[in-house]
Formats: sequence, structure tokens, C-alpha cells
Amino acid sequence: MNTRIIDLPKHEGNTVTVQGWIYNIRESKGIKFLVIRDGSEFCQAVISQQEVNEQTWKDAEQLTQESSLAVTGKVVPNHRDRFPFEIQVQNIQIYQIVKDYPITHKEHGVDFLMNHRHLWLRTPRQWAIMRVRNRIIYAIHQFFQEQGFVQMDAPIFTANACEGTSTLFETDYYGTPAYLSQSGQLYGEAMAMAMGKIYTFGPTFRAEKSQTRRHLSEFWMIEPEMAFYDLDMNMDLIESMLKYIVHAVLTNCRTELNLLQRDTSKLQKLVDESFIRMTYQEAVELLKSDKTQTLLQKDLENAQQQTQELLAEQKQLQQEHPSAKKGRKAEIDRRLQEINATLKDLEELMRNIPQWMKSAKEFELGNDFGGSDETVITRHFEVPIMVHRYPHEVKAFYMKRDPKDSRWAMGVDVLAPEGYGEIVGGGERETDEQVLIQKIQEHNLPMSAFEWYLDLRRFGSVPHSGFGLGLERLVAYVAGLHHVRETIPFARHYNRLTP
Ligand code: 4AD
Ligand code: MG
Repeated sequence: MNTRIIDLPKHEGNTVTVQGWIYNIRESKGIKFLVIRDGSEFCQAVISQQEVNEQTWKDAEQLTQESSLAVTGKVVPNHRDRFPFEIQVQNIQIYQIVKDYPITHKEHGVDFLMNHRHLWLRTPRQWAIMRVRNRIIYAIHQFFQEQGFVQMDAPIFTANACEGTSTLFETDYYGTPAYLSQSGQLYGEAMAMAMGKIYTFGPTFRAEKSQTRRHLSEFWMIEPEMAFYDLDMNMDLIESMLKYIVHAVLTNCRTELNLLQRDTSKLQKLVDESFIRMTYQEAVELLKSDKTQTLLQKDLENAQQQTQELLAEQKQLQQEHPSAKKGRKAEIDRRLQEINATLKDLEELMRNIPQWMKSAKEFELGNDFGGSDETVITRHFEVPIMVHRYPHEVKAFYMKRDPKDSRWAMGVDVLAPEGYGEIVGGGERETDEQVLIQKIQEHNLPMSAFEWYLDLRRFGSVPHSGFGLGLERLVAYVAGLHHVRETIPFARHYNRLTP
């Protein structure tokens, strides 16, 4: 029976066989250090010319990055933190020797990597992201199942829009137009009237004709819908769900979060502290305040200072490079790559901040928040913010109006801290048939497609609420990623349909 790398600690002192691929090879005289991956983890395997027979050493000399093999050897402790155990190789069996693997250990551009996504998935960072995603999915099912929710599958071909008509993907459904689902919510509402509490977990499609770091054309959404829940109960549920998920990741994905260099103290805050709740009006006041201007001004100055420091370090390392020894040279190269990446981010930030300051100051009550407004609002807090009671004009037709002040819709958006912005959108649903009919007309939606939905208000209408959690946005936030394209195995966004 072969051993998975993740189980090596259980086999200390024993001889095991691991099947996998070579991620990296370092060598010095008569010794090869392989980093092997098998999907479960990465580990180091050491082949020493003195310890193996002639044929094995000959085979080892052929090994290249991503060659596939099985290694047999003894599991011994290795007191380096990333790989607590290593394999002292006695034998290898080669499956395939790889020539010219396209993704080397040098820096590659994002486009190149996205074009090689089928291979890029093998690298440690992507491996860690996919495992975080997997753990989040698992935690979501656990959370809802433990609370007695019934999982339902909403249809993907739909006859009507749910979230506005501007982002619909139209298909030909036996000669009539059908749209790929923008949201399973309306079907979720029907199912909630049958089962009480349900959640959908499915693919969702939006034609978003612009490239942003938050938008995909195909993404996964979790949409719970609960009979007899009002907006406050809805917000309580969102908060406890997010705490549950993040706690599960913190407990089970230490290795992955370390690899991603995620500052876990920030995630711990989400678990330990209460979320902020504020109305849209309060959020607008904060956005337009002097406090916002001062904070952003300070961020700008910090970015400028950090840039100066990094440029100085870069210069120093470049001077040291020509005369450095081999090991140190590699270290310098790595650090220079890091510096370059950070400088690029800072440059973008310094370009953005003045625009954010301007649009924050000029924001008009009644408008919807843009991505940068959300970023700025989250800048004030270290925990998620639940902004509720938006102008009804900017929200979907199904939102209930605030009975105390009909200017506002009983919707809530959850803005993740550290600049991430909206990860959840939801609210309390309109229960009155006549109000809904009027809203459907105002939104220029075809009434016939909503007849079945109106039945839900004709036959036992009750207060109910729900929300939609964007899986990729949550993964980006938890893993600390700049862009959602890395959070899904094969991203679909504007200008990207392959691989
Ligand atoms: O705010 P949205 O549009 O809400 C709905 O679809 C409701 N029907 C949900 C409900 O109440 N049942 O989308 C919900 C979430 C957003 O907060 C965001 O996290 C994610 O879905 N999302 C996207 N994620 C990636 N790419 C896109 N283009 C997204 N559009 C929305
Ligand atoms: Mg939204």
C-alpha cells in the first residue's frame, strides 16, 4: 500500500513508497534534494549516490521538473519547518521523464499562467487555494445541514431574469430564448415555502463585460432562503455562517494559509468579534466624512514611504548580486521578485487612492456603491460590515420596502474587510402580491414569466428572507488573494473561455 505524503508523520522510521511528481530539484555533489508532490502535500526526498545502487542513481540523474515517479525510502524527521519529515530514498520507479515543462521557477506573467491553468494548478500556491476552497465548501454544507436546512438544486435554464436584464446570457432553448441562471433565489423561495429552510449551491452566470478583480462570468453561489425570517434574523444567520466557515478554515488549513502568507490574526478577528451593522445612510455619511479623507491621505503617505524603502533595498540588493555566492544569489533573486510585485501593488494603490478620495467626497445619497466605495468603507474597520436598508431604486424588484420609511429596501450587503468589499447580498422579500406586480412592471420584466412566483404570494404568503454568498469572493478574502480568477479551478470571465 502506498503512502500519501500528508501521512508521512505517522510513518516515522518506516520504509514507505510515495507516488507523485517532482516539483523541484536541487543538487550538490552526489546528492539530490527532490521536492515531491502527490496532491495531498509536498515533501522532500533525498537521494544520495552513496546510498543507492548504480542504476537508481542513473535514473535519478534523468529526473526533471514534473517527471512522475514512485520513490521508496525511509521516513526521517527533518528539522526544517516546511517539511517536518523527509524520505531517504532507496529506490525510484519512473513513470515518465518530462521534457521542457512550460512553467519554470522563474516569474511568469498572469496571462501566461492563466493560459497554462491546467498545469498552473500544480504549484504550491494554487494547491493551497484549491484546498481552502474545498474546506470552505465542506464547511458551508456542514453549517446548513447541522441547522436543518435542506439543500436544493435550482434550474440553470431559466425563462426570466432575477438580478436585472443587463447581465443575462441568452441561449436557444428549442427555439425560444432561455437564460443561464443569474441566481436560484426565486426557486429557493418556492422551495422554502415547501421545506421551511433551504439552501442552493450552484453555478451562476452573469455577463459582466468588464474585467475587475471581483467579477466572473461563471461563479458559484450559496443561496439560503428561510420562511418566517426577518432582516435581523437574516443578518444573524449571515454572521454566524461566516464565523463558522472562517473558523473551520483556520482550524483545518494552517499549512495552506501559511503557504499563502495569509495574516490569520485578521481572520481570527472575524471569528471573535461582532460584525459592524450600519444603514446605507450611515455608510454614506462615513464615506463622505473628513475622517475618510484623513485616513486615505495617511494610506497614500504610507504607500509612498514604503515605496521609497523598497526602492532603496532593491538598489542595495542589485549592487550585492554580482559578487554574491550561489545560494545568496538565489535568495537575492527571490527577494527582488517579491519587491517587484509589492512595488507594482503600491504603484496601483497610489494611482487609486486620489480617485477614491475624490469619488468618496462627491458620492451622492441615493446612488449604489461602486467597488471602490466599498473598499473605502471597509478601510475603517477590521471586521465585516453589514450595510442594510439601501435605496429601493438600486435594488432588485423582489426586495421588501422598509415599513417605517418606504425610501429604503430591506436589503443587506456584507462588505469584507481589507478592501475586499461585497461578498454577500440578501434581504427580506416583498410578500404583497400587488406591490410585487407593480415592481415587476417598473423593472420592465415580462409578467408572464413571473406568474408562478406570484402564486407564492397568493397561497400562504409569509415573511421570509435569504441571501446569496459568492463563493469565489469569499475564497479570495479568506486566502488573501488580489483577484477572484485564482479562486476557481478554471475561471470564466470577460475575454477568458479557455483552457
Ligand atoms: O448581490 P447579488 O447579485 O444577489 C443575488 O443574486 C441575490 N439573488 C442573492 C439572494 O438574496 N439570494 O449576488 C450575491 C453575491 C454577491 O454578494 C457576490 O458575492 C457574488 O454573489 N457575485 C459575484 N461573484 C463573482 N462574480 C460576479 N460577477 C458576481 N456577481 C455576484
Ligand atoms: Mg449585490
